[in-house]
Amino acid sequence: MQLTDSSHDIVAATVSTVAAHAEEITRRFYADMFEARPDLLNVFNRANQANGEQQKTLAASIVAFGTWLVSTDEPDFAPVMSRIAHKHVSLGIRGRDYLIVQRYLLAAIGKVLGEAVTPAVAAAWDEVYWLFATALIAEEARLYALSGVDPEEPWQPYRVTGRVDETDDVFSLLLAPVDGTVPVYEPGQYISIAVDLPDGVRQPRQYTLSSAPGSDALRITVKRVRAEDGRPAGQVSSFLHEHAVPGAVFDVTKPAGDVTLAPGSGPLVLVSAGIGITPVAAYVDELARRQPERPVRVLHADRTQEEHPLRDEIAERLAGMADASARA
Ligand SMILES: Cc1cc2nc3c(=O)[nH]c(=O)nc-3n(C[C@H](O)[C@H](O)[C@H](O)COP(=O)(O)OP(=O)(O)OC[C@H]3O[C@@H](n4cnc5c(N)ncnc54)[C@H](O)[C@@H]3O)c2cc1C
Ligand code: HEM
Repeated sequence: MQLTDSSHDIVAATVSTVAAHAEEITRRFYADMFEARPDLLNVFNRANQANGEQQKTLAASIVAFGTWLVSTDEPDFAPVMSRIAHKHVSLGIRGRDYLIVQRYLLAAIGKVLGEAVTPAVAAAWDEVYWLFATALIAEEARLYALSGVDPEEPWQPYRVTGRVDETDDVFSLLLAPVDGTVPVYEPGQYISIAVDLPDGVRQPRQYTLSSAPGSDALRITVKRVRAEDGRPAGQVSSFLHEHAVPGAVFDVTKPAGDVTLAPGSGPLVLVSAGIGITPVAAYVDELARRQPERPVRVLHADRTQEEHPLRDEIAERLAGMADASARA
């Protein structure tokens, strides 16, 4: 992946200016894009818009990529690319959506930086954008093909077939496809689930599959985000807490995510905190089934023992393994 020589010099000369204004650029970009395409509000996480999280992420990734393109000593960009591609695939982002983002992002760079954006500067950053975008589009196409997903129809209806309250604020849901069979997945992967909120906005969120594959339903374990310190209650987790009861149907995407167990048989230490236990629960389930002889240590931090989700289940699985232990 390489910029043309002329763009390389321009990006090297302007990357610090763009970095300094990146958050403002992304804020402007989102405002303009949502005004023109309000339907996209159903795709993006609106809490991230409100609390500024996505502003930081998109801005940071474009600047990081521009920096990577003009540096010789930056670390490999492939892991970042892979993480973004998995997230996009989990949300059903399509190749043609990149045209919309490009239009409003480049316009926002022009609006925020004003006269500094000569036609040559605009062309150089357009090149950065498309190098990033085409790499993502290619990787996303590969991931869609691997999981047999039609990017035009990524959502499938799933029925809640079981619910278990794990702690006061955490509950597990069993989700079975209304049609067809449970997809294959790797422990550590997540699905997106979309809910139609009372104000008419549809919102997707990601939840890690909290058990290994092998049953006729997918299990997710959700922490209800309560209102705290002036911040509102979490929209989707609260909605699921109230409405995800056996029989309810939700749209779900195929499992995605690249934080999976690497092949191997060496000792393993799994560290988590709070609801971050969910991938650990899936790894331990898988290890207990497939590698019960593998040395495994699980370290988990939580406020109290009562708030520690899936504690008994993980302890039980570890107890069946030859050399495993847990500390919480
Ligand atoms: C790959 C991945 C895997 C995940 N796995 C799990 C899992 O296994 N289990 C799990 O429970 N969660 C998991 N999550 C988190 C999950 O996707 C949701 O982010 C989480 O449930 C919160 O969503 P929500 O809609 O309830 O909260 P949101 O409505 O998205 O709110 C999120 C936060 O933003 C704050 N906020 C919202 N609006 C404002 C505002 N105007 N000003 C200030 N703050 C504001 C809220 O108070 C809250 O603290 C995962 C996330 C990812 C990306
Ligand atoms: C080169 C172009 C793009 C870049 C660099 C980019 C970058 C990113 C990054 C860094 C994340 C966060 C990943 C994570 O949390 O792990 C993300 C998430 C996301 N992206 Fe993109 N993206 C691009 C194009 C698009 C397009 C075309 C769309 C669809 C219109 C899109 C929609 C989303 C959505 C919905 C999320 C989830 C976060 C949220 O809802 O707030 N992105 N992207």
